[in-house]
Amino acid sequence: MTILVTGARGNVGRRVLDRLHAAGHDLRASARTPDDLTVPAGVDAVELDLGRPETFDTALKGVDSAFLYAEPAAARDLFAAVARAGVRHVVLLSSATVSGPAAGTDPLALHHAAVEDALAASAVPGTVLRPGAFAGNALGWSRAIAAGQPVRIPFPDAHTAPVHEDDIADVAAVALGDRSYAGRTLTFSGPRSLTFRQQLAVIGALLGREVPVHELTRDQAVEEMGRFMPPPVLASLLDQWSAAVDRPAEVHDVKAVTGRPARTFEQWAREHLDAFAARN
Ligand SMILES: NC(=O)c1ccc[n+]([C@@H]2O[C@H](COP(=O)([O-])OP(=O)(O)OC[C@H]3O[C@@H](n4cnc5c(N)ncnc54)[C@H](OP(=O)(O)O)[C@@H]3O)[C@@H](O)[C@H]2O)c1
Repeated sequence: MTILVTGARGNVGRRVLDRLHAAGHDLRASARTPDDLTVPAGVDAVELDLGRPETFDTALKGVDSAFLYAEPAAARDLFAAVARAGVRHVVLLSSATVSGPAAGTDPLALHHAAVEDALAASAVPGTVLRPGAFAGNALGWSRAIAAGQPVRIPFPDAHTAPVHEDDIADVAAVALGDRSYAGRTLTFSGPRSLTFRQQLAVIGALLGREVPVHELTRDQAVEEMGRFMPPPVLASLLDQWSAAVDRPAEVHDVKAVTGRPARTFEQWAREHLDAFAARN
């Protein structure tokens, strides 16, 4: 009963791997470059590039269920290989954008929808996870905060309900361990809607100092954030944030799946406070 965890060094993938390992499952972990992948004792590390079909069959041989990241490049080939290998259940990390207000045009939504569609068109039983914005996105502010500089962001009053990556991994681990989740789509978020300004205030309160915010215009954000983000992704995010200004995000608790309340953004920030602390 081998479970394959793709993206095993990713924020979510690694947590899924750790949970399944602690529960005693027989595991295989994959990465595009497995040689430098660190895995728990007894776990096989294999090569799997979700965009390169020639890597699929070997990685999937003997696999009973799989945790998958969403990569549309070769998604139909992937699910054909999954079916060929006799995999009985996949859990796909998708995104709440797929059911968001701009689902038909938003590049991030279309990226994930393409993989969901390929899964639905295959004969493979699957569970689709649609988390909202990750709490870990706040790490993008860490450099400025640690340096004591203002955080330069557009739409600081945009709301998200940040979800802790441990909750995403808990949901994935529950679904991987229970085939009755096959055929279901699970949409979930963190426990509370917070604006970016409020998230920064939470971090500031934990640090014991104010975290100043410098609001960027959309054009300034395109210029500054476009240096490290592909234009379609940036445009998608700017559209989402602009639409979320002063509009609380919908909250979908994970408790129905995990049996425990969702972790708060404050808990996430407390656990990651070192990343925001001043460096000497
Ligand atoms: N951030 C958000 O707010 C948000 C919201 C909703 C959904 N999501 C979804 O969550 C994902 C991010 O999760 P994360 O934070 O865990 O990501 P992460 O830490 O950036 O890790 C990404 C993982 O994806 C793997 N990967 C990327 N391309 C691959 C490919 N072609 N073949 C095989 N593996 C590949 C990487 O594997 P390697 O080790 O091989 O590089 C890596 O392990 C996004 O891609 C999106 O689909 C994010």
